[in-house]
Amino acid sequence: MFLDPRLISTEENTQAAETMGPLSAPPCTQRITWKGLLLTASLLNFWNLPTTAQVTIEAQPPKVFEVKDVLLLVHNLPQNLAGYIWYKGQMTDLYHYITSYVVDGERIIYGPAYSGRETVYSNASLLIQNVTREDAGSYTLHIIKRGDGTRGETGHFSVNLYRETPKPSISSSNLNPREAMEAVRLTCDPETPDASYLWWMNGQSLPMTHRLQLSKTNRSLFIFGVTKYIAGPYECEIRNPVSASRSDPVTLNLLHGPDLPRIYPSFTYYRSGENLYLSCFADSNPPTEYSWTINGKFQLSGQNLFIPEITTKHSGLYTCSVRNSATGKEMSKSMTVKVSGPCHGDLTESHS
Ligand SMILES: *[C@@H]1O[C@H](CO)[C@@H](O)[C@H](O)[C@H]1NC(C)=O
Ligand SMILES: *[C@@H]1O[C@H](CO)[C@@H](O)[C@H](O)[C@H]1NC(C)=O
Ligand SMILES: *[C@@H]1O[C@H](CO)[C@@H](O)[C@H](O)[C@H]1NC(C)=O
Repeated sequence: MFLDPRLISTEENTQAAETMGPLSAPPCTQRITWKGLLLTASLLNFWNLPTTAQVTIEAQPPKVFEVKDVLLLVHNLPQNLAGYIWYKGQMTDLYHYITSYVVDGERIIYGPAYSGRETVYSNASLLIQNVTREDAGSYTLHIIKRGDGTRGETGHFSVNLYRETPKPSISSSNLNPREAMEAVRLTCDPETPDASYLWWMNGQSLPMTHRLQLSKTNRSLFIFGVTKYIAGPYECEIRNPVSASRSDPVTLNLLHGPDLPRIYPSFTYYRSGENLYLSCFADSNPPTEYSWTINGKFQLSGQNLFIPEITTKHSGLYTCSVRNSATGKEMSKSMTVKVSGPCHGDLTESHS
């Protein structure tokens, strides 16, 4: 067997120029139109002509999109030919006859399989213009040498049809999952025939964890109990033998917290006349809602509590309550503040 190196198609990536709407846009699986169809010369035939080099056929360019043209180039054509016939498919009957070239008189003949878009050249190459889906499949070239009568040599050439992969997008069953509570299904859209799906998290292949599971086709990714370590960003890729396209990254907006709040500063003894300034912190998404009570009595909403020039009356139990209405979680932390009477020295100083 002989394989002409020119026939090995180069893997120049044909990224889809098409961009789909942002994630917020409604899923458009139904409305996806293929950017184009791709014709590739995958495997070629070759046949033995005893006294000559192997005849080979090459598609030029190796990847052709729908509505573009492709030239089936014939190499190493033997000398002294009477003519050649191109057939669509592997059958060399009249029904599949596209066109032929008769060397004597440079005549071109058209058959029933001629679509009006094929042109045969004197060197046997066949140009197919405005390629359509129907043009995929195999082609047969029949070469007739002088003195051969109608016998001759036949070679098959197959043209594979692939679709250029569209730029995928990730849809999510839930973009705002609650931490460790909800399962999320990410789906790589659109559904693409004869393509495989790949996923990345943080730009790398998926980590091995029981929390991540792929569907049978790999088109969907199930996340069981989202934690901050597996919130993303996720990307998916659609790949076929001739093209690949990757989605924009999608990060899940993890709803979590609040954690147990902390109060700063933590010291509890104050003197009359000092300013009391307390801050409360608890991590949460969406941001924590804070409120303060003193001895169970509501003081204010907000993260910081400020009381200037406190007196002994301000002694008591100070409580910071935190809440996240999205997760429904509430926590609180209390501290006892003791305010002692003013000391004599301080008073003297402040009077001077
Ligand atoms: C190919 O398509 C173009 C644009 O539609 C058209 O003008 C041209 O005639 C077509 N060529 C053939 C051979 O069908
Ligand atoms: C055959 O002829 C076509 C059209 O003139 C040309 O583009 C092509 O390169 C030729 N093929 C070879 C193998 O020389
Ligand atoms: C799904 O992906 C795995 C690797 O993550 C791969 O081994 C497997 O062949 C893929 N399955 C399909 C149907 O593409």
